Amino acid sequence: LRVFVLNGPNLDRLGTRQPEVYGTMTLADIEGMLAEHHADLAIEVRQSNDEATLIAWLHEAVDARVPVILNPAAFTHYSYALRDAATLVTEAGLTLIEVHLSNPHAREEFRHTSVISGVATGVIAGFGAHSYLLALDEVRRRA
Ligand code: DQA
Repeated sequence: LRVFVLNGPNLDRLGTRQPEVYGTMTLADIEGMLAEHHADLAIEVRQSNDEATLIAWLHEAVDARVPVILNPAAFTHYSYALRDAATLVTEAGLTLIEVHLSNPHAREEFRHTSVISGVATGVIAGFGAHSYLLALDEVRRRA
């Protein structure tokens, strides 16, 4: 089973970016942890700071019929373009799980709104790198 794990802006800085909020694992560390726990899945971890690239990857997921774990990062809070692309995924009958390392609801007001959640299959937030692991468990369960 192929699974896309797509990550938005500034998540390439994990490890050193606000470790008190996001932990000390890098995205490569998280990728290693996911691969270790789900060795039989073809997990494709990708990251872009560019909205257009993330949208193209969601289109690719639709065309290749691949379920998606998406950490939209700051785009969570305002990107209607990403929301529309996420809609294509779930309307195609594919699972799309929105994940966050932190719990955005426990943080600044602007993080309390997600324009993605309403079109996602579900949301997992606040468990650090384990948010991704929990999401993968569910992707597997639904496959
Ligand atoms: C985040 C939460 C967002 O509010 C923030 O902009 C991020 C990371 C998280 O994983 O906790 O970049 O999506």
